[in-house]
Amino acid sequence: MMAEGPLIQTIDVRKIYGMGEIRVAALDGVSIAIESGEFVAVMGPSGSGKSTLMNILGCLDRPSEGRYILDGVDVSEMDRKQLAHIRNDRIGFIFQSYNLLPRTSALKNVMVPLFYRRNHKYSTEEREAIARGVLEAVGLANRLHHQPQELSGGEQQRVAIARALVNDPILILADEPTGNLDTRSGEEIMGLLHELHLDGRTIVMVTHDPEIAAHTQRTIHLIDGRVELVVENGAGSTLKEEERVRHESH
Ligand SMILES: Nc1ncnc2c1ncn2[C@@H]1O[C@H](COP(=O)(O)OP(=O)(O)OP(=O)(O)O)[C@@H](O)[C@H]1O
Ligand SMILES: [Mg+2]
Repeated sequence: MMAEGPLIQTIDVRKIYGMGEIRVAALDGVSIAIESGEFVAVMGPSGSGKSTLMNILGCLDRPSEGRYILDGVDVSEMDRKQLAHIRNDRIGFIFQSYNLLPRTSALKNVMVPLFYRRNHKYSTEEREAIARGVLEAVGLANRLHHQPQELSGGEQQRVAIARALVNDPILILADEPTGNLDTRSGEEIMGLLHELHLDGRTIVMVTHDPEIAAHTQRTIHLIDGRVELVVENGAGSTLKEEERVRHESH
């Protein structure tokens, strides 16, 4: 069910690490809204809070203060078990270092999230068939039984994308998905993300590379845990029209 309003809404989200003197506000009052179907980049210097924001958007972590509304549901108050279900059923993660299970075939890696699904109990044959279909869709039909160490970086990332897609998530979060790849493999991965966007997926992607960010519709710039600037990239165009949006709470 699709709720009214943005798919993602954070309201004055803070994330404080540590205690007393060594408290670090990794996020210091972030209010953003992302519509269903948007492709958004997050940029900012090292330590500006990009991964912390992704962890909260992905329900891997909870805000210290503020609210996070995902698809109309306030997830900021949910317990760990509820968050784990949302993560597995509704969110697909893609990481810079792929995070695949070692010594495990591409097919088995992609089958894992199906095993943890709450509402569908698939047989092994069904899980295999679904995982095979997604691996074929990302161009890996001839690599099903290869283990991660037998695959190139770009291929490993495509397995990770297949794993992220296998539960048909409402949200795809990618933290520097091209960070470990050469230019050509990076372009292939961006091509895949573009296709997913055209299919109507909502994607939030962290990148250090302005050219990669220009592939998206909007770039959110973080500095010191705050939204400094939001830039409209002009859908698919390399012509950038900058639109400075003052962050409301600052
Ligand atoms: N688990 C943690 N405990 C304490 N401090 C943390 C923790 N995770 C992150 N931080 C701090 O929070 C701030 C934001 O970190 P974060 O990982 O979100 O940055 P980033 O923008 O992703 O940086 P990078 O580009 O280097 O990946 C940093 O100052 C970091 O040291
Ligand atoms: Mg990071």
